[in-house]
Amino acid sequence: MSSSPDTSGHSASPAVRFFSGENIPLEMHKVRVVQKLSLPPIEERLSAIRRAGFNTFLLKTRDVYLDMLTDSGTNAMSDVQMGAMMQADDAYAGSQSFERMQAAIEEVFGKRLVLPVHQGRAAENVIFRSYVKAGDLVPMNYHFTTTLAHLELNGAKIAELLHDEALQVKSTNPFKGNMDIAKLRHAIASHGVQNVPLIRMEASTNLIGGQPFSIANLREVAQVAKEAGILLLLDASLIGENAWFIKQREPEFQQASIASILHEMCALADIVYFSSRKVSSSRGGAICTNRPEVFDKLKVLVPLFEGFLTYGGMSVREIEAMAVGLRETTDDTIISQSPSFIRYLVERLEALGIPVVTPAGGLGCHVDAGGFLPHIPQAEYPAGALAAAFYLISGVRGMERGTLSSTRDSYGNDILADAELLRLALPRRVFTLSQVKYVEDRLHWLYTQRELVGGLRFVEEPSVLRFFMGRLEALSDWPEKLMQAFKRAFGDSL
Ligand code: F0G
Repeated sequence: MSSSPDTSGHSASPAVRFFSGENIPLEMHKVRVVQKLSLPPIEERLSAIRRAGFNTFLLKTRDVYLDMLTDSGTNAMSDVQMGAMMQADDAYAGSQSFERMQAAIEEVFGKRLVLPVHQGRAAENVIFRSYVKAGDLVPMNYHFTTTLAHLELNGAKIAELLHDEALQVKSTNPFKGNMDIAKLRHAIASHGVQNVPLIRMEASTNLIGGQPFSIANLREVAQVAKEAGILLLLDASLIGENAWFIKQREPEFQQASIASILHEMCALADIVYFSSRKVSSSRGGAICTNRPEVFDKLKVLVPLFEGFLTYGGMSVREIEAMAVGLRETTDDTIISQSPSFIRYLVERLEALGIPVVTPAGGLGCHVDAGGFLPHIPQAEYPAGALAAAFYLISGVRGMERGTLSSTRDSYGNDILADAELLRLALPRRVFTLSQVKYVEDRLHWLYTQRELVGGLRFVEEPSVLRFFMGRLEALSDWPEKLMQAFKRAFGDSL
């Protein structure tokens, strides 16, 4: 479904060639509601990042120019979604809004049994409490932070079964999110099939740089799951982007519609769950399946943790927005906007010699902090330091995705992350190209000054999901030195 007025008869893909020969992604939308931004001077930014304990999660948006923390709940809503929110049917039980959402899920994902939840991690809570017992192993292509936390809470372990090359920063592998099938068979055999309740595949694998898997790979995973009698669980939070990459990169699907690719992906999974905050620009989430016994098992926990079965912790307005947003996920123009801006930024940064994850993935541009700041050891959180330094010199807020987002082992040592990344999220249809160019420019300057950036250490460290609320300090006066260098380079400029 496209925004009104209807433009569905025109080219869906922004494949306009510029006379200049430049490869510039063209916005296929116009901006009609705006939010004013400000860019505080660097002295204020230094105070702000100090107040935030050098953790970008703890910054206030009034201190931020471009908020590239996440796409979660920050994608732009369409006029059609906003319109639908006005027709919501307020009811505790049996709401027509829920029926519309259920119909949209069936249409887009091909699953008819739907449980609403208030967001993605709530789906994980319900699924893992229902299916996972202490000592179990859950194989997956790669974990997401909340997935791992919920599995550990239930006493289970994970096995991350990516191909070895998936963690190479620079790569031409189109499907770094693929699962290694030999490793999967081995994990099941060695742990015992009775202790492997689920196999989880994450679309556009978040923590390794928004990297997709192929349908060919998902088919193989589904085959192994079926042979072993294990349920295949699909985390569809970034499924639209994964489908877009399949269309771009998997020859069998070049002519396929996004709608048919989504159907094919979901049909291979027994349970599909998602954070609607990402997939449909609204709030909330859902679990869906076509298997009545799975539905009956899961539904018991929904009224306990989420709310009645026809709202699951969401407002009816969010439910309406989700229904429309899901249908919009099948629109090439809408779903390709964020990946095309990400690709633009990644290509620009690569041309400048700045280390970034390639190929460009979904969700955001992922800067390789390990390569950017090789002088900072992982135990001093190079990706966290880069996030803080980049905010300081630009007012742009990114997110650390490295050792700071990891946990400690039983001896109290950091479990070093496989990759140290600074994620600069490009939520759908939120930023303009000049803002993206500003990011490129400031990151370029920071790269020339990279030796000035130093490490961080925790001063307050929560035991669970420490990256959200933990506070850190700089290991030297590097933030002041970086500010002085900025002022010498840019004078009065913000
Ligand atoms: N699964 C994936 C792949 C996610 O990216 C997220 C959230 C979740 C599950 C949990 O969903 O936040 O609605 O509870 N990712 C956000 C991010 C937080 O910034 O990448 P949630």
